Amino acid sequence: MSEISFNFTLIKLPSDKTLKKMSSMRLKRTCQIMLLILIGSASVQAQNRLIIEADKGQNTINKHIYGHFSEHLGRCIYGGYWVGEDSSIPNTRGIRNDVVQALKDISIPNLRWPGGCFADEYHWMDGIGPRENRPKMINTHWGGVVEDNSFGTHEFLDLCEQLGTEPYISGNVGSGTVEEMSKWVEYITFDGESPMANLRRKNGRQEPWKVKFWGVGNESWGCGGNMTPDYYSDLYRHYATFARNYGDNRLYKIACGANGGDYNWTETLMKNAGRQMQGLSLHYYTVPKDWGDKGSATNFDEEEYFTTIEKTLFMDELISKHSAIMDRYDPRKRVGLIVDEWGTWYNVEPGTNPGFLYQQNTLRDAIVAGINLNIFNAHSDRVQMANLAQTVNVLQAVMLTDEEKMLLTPTYWVFYLYKVHQDATLLPISFTSNKYRQGDREIDAVSVSASKDANGKIHITLVNADPNSEQRINTQLIGATAKNIKGKILTSGKINDYNSFEQPSKVKVNDFKGASLSNNNLSVVLPSKSVVMLEIQ
Ligand code: AHR
Repeated sequence: MSEISFNFTLIKLPSDKTLKKMSSMRLKRTCQIMLLILIGSASVQAQNRLIIEADKGQNTINKHIYGHFSEHLGRCIYGGYWVGEDSSIPNTRGIRNDVVQALKDISIPNLRWPGGCFADEYHWMDGIGPRENRPKMINTHWGGVVEDNSFGTHEFLDLCEQLGTEPYISGNVGSGTVEEMSKWVEYITFDGESPMANLRRKNGRQEPWKVKFWGVGNESWGCGGNMTPDYYSDLYRHYATFARNYGDNRLYKIACGANGGDYNWTETLMKNAGRQMQGLSLHYYTVPKDWGDKGSATNFDEEEYFTTIEKTLFMDELISKHSAIMDRYDPRKRVGLIVDEWGTWYNVEPGTNPGFLYQQNTLRDAIVAGINLNIFNAHSDRVQMANLAQTVNVLQAVMLTDEEKMLLTPTYWVFYLYKVHQDATLLPISFTSNKYRQGDREIDAVSVSASKDANGKIHITLVNADPNSEQRINTQLIGATAKNIKGKILTSGKINDYNSFEQPSKVKVNDFKGASLSNNNLSVVLPSKSVVMLEIQ
């Protein structure tokens, strides 16, 4: 890494007289930024260059980008949230208090449930009424275990109320019926006299719940029914028609979207059903190796680490390309791109049930999370929601539990740092990153995002993916009078450090002292393999 330090200097711009000839202030600003970039390029090549337009910004970063996902899978629902009312683990109506508090602390905006693949074999009526009468089923997707339906609609919506979060329910298209989904919506949201509303009352809930986010099928191209996009489009229109808006409850209906780079799926759905949907989903997992041997969560070398980051950066291209298709059918960006499953997927921890998808979570996962959240922010004109898979004990979990013990993973701390972006205004940035290289491959070392909140505070989140070198970043803040700066950092000695029940705070957030302000020039020294959040006032 270059030791030459570099300062952006605002060189004298054309006089106001000259600029008057230019048609607008916007042109002046563009000119200013171009000059800054040119100065940077001319002087030192290997230097991160960042310009933030602090007085600009049009898009709100939808808080739902910071959403989560919980499936009836392994120990996510059972053990992760639900321990039952008689458990010695502190709980409120059967739901663990420690898990609820931790999710509240990251301001969880929404929670997707009951799947995933499980959603397309879930029959909601099995999960209502007295628990002792609820039928048992086999969870064929995930470990073939018995699902006793003790956590159902009432328990999930109670969980959401305890969390203060918005529910996102995935309805069953794969093995359900239009009638079944239609009745579920009626059961939850209808306030009047009707068979389903009366059944809800009989089961102890007088008032309807408010539910906005409603998924119509999950991975219908795969575990949700192996459908073609044309066939699914028709089904989507059919199911969505009977998922009614009752009273002032307005459903935001989300159609099953593409598997990674299946652009034909997006094209077909937008063409056939674009007008009937509010959201279209996208699923993309970061798998370091391949689906046969995905790689270990904790035991990896630098080459595998590099590949993980390279693959996670693909999210940017995916969103750009799916958005470009959506733009053709929906230029006003009415339909949200909903990345409702993302995260890392590794081999399960040795000795655990292969169907439970239990994996550890290292500093590498924190880097992955920071990069993806910066990407979602950057695309917040189209990306209206994202859901990390999954909250507790499954895949890139933010928490792990072992009976009464609970720990927060490095990924949790990224959501903790980034919560400042929720519903803030995305600030335009211009950024050129140094490269992180492995042999003849190279990727950007640094990822960045900036926003301004309702109180005028500017937040910048930075990720240095390079595990070997610090990164110096000289930043020009345009259009702000910056007086104070403070920051937090997440890093650790080794890229594969993680929190265990023996050492639950090995990877944790600390105060960050590596940033300084001089006028509106901000200098940051990002340690290797770190995630940093800066707050400027
Ligand atoms: O998150 C685990 C699984 O991954 C989900 O059930 C499914 O939708 C996806 O394939």
